[in-house]
Amino acid sequence: MRRLLIAGNWKMHKTIPEALDLVRELKELVKDVNDRDILVCPPFTALYPVSRELEGSNIVLGGQNMYFEEQGAFTGEISPLMLKDAGCSYVILGHSERRHIFGETDELVNKKVLSAINHGLIPILCVGELLEERESGKTQEVVEKQVREGLKGVDGDNEFVIAYEPVWAIGTGKTATPELAEEVHLFIRQVLSDMFGSEKANSVRILYGGSVKPENAAGLLNMENIDGALVGGASLKAESFAKIVKFDMEA
Ligand code: 13P
Repeated sequence: MRRLLIAGNWKMHKTIPEALDLVRELKELVKDVNDRDILVCPPFTALYPVSRELEGSNIVLGGQNMYFEEQGAFTGEISPLMLKDAGCSYVILGHSERRHIFGETDELVNKKVLSAINHGLIPILCVGELLEERESGKTQEVVEKQVREGLKGVDGDNEFVIAYEPVWAIGTGKTATPELAEEVHLFIRQVLSDMFGSEKANSVRILYGGSVKPENAAGLLNMENIDGALVGGASLKAESFAKIVKFDMEA
């Protein structure tokens, strides 16, 4: 059985005091949840204070990006050692905003994935098609390339997570239907099976992201191959994120 992972990607939101308020409230709301993993990914400046606040809780911490080198003359970048030092155990890599706003390529994302693994961080590799790619029937082709190139050189013994985020569903209020998302998740698992064998493919968690809200979480998370969510906007409020975390529990 794959353990669910519900992750909040805060993107470029929250000052340190705002971040602390959010996790204090969230901690309380999800304190009794112990059968799934809960992850928050604040902006870099809030990582360390948030990690102190999360000590002893059931919520873990992740970065939203990193560079693949350990240190050096890379102005403005953050290394895997720094993320570990700040208390992170996960890192989101290849998010569509990184790919499309900052020009990240599959090759760069792959270097980051390998570096994260080498430093004991669990990468969350994000993949997903643009609207025009979906409309021209290229979804599988695009997603397969991102998965294969993003994971090049990764050993089947290493832990990694995939997040399928159709770009047209991010921040738009348009969610993929559970059936449509499930179809792509199943396809990704088949690609993983071809790369790593079926046992490994069946153990990899594949998250869905793109306008996940308390109202649509259960429909998505009940699908067989959807093993969690990567939540943007709805993770910025403790109440809505906690509702997604507890999508199948009594209120
Ligand atoms: P929204 O939930 O705001 O659509 O963002 C999704 C996302 O990009 C999470 O990484």
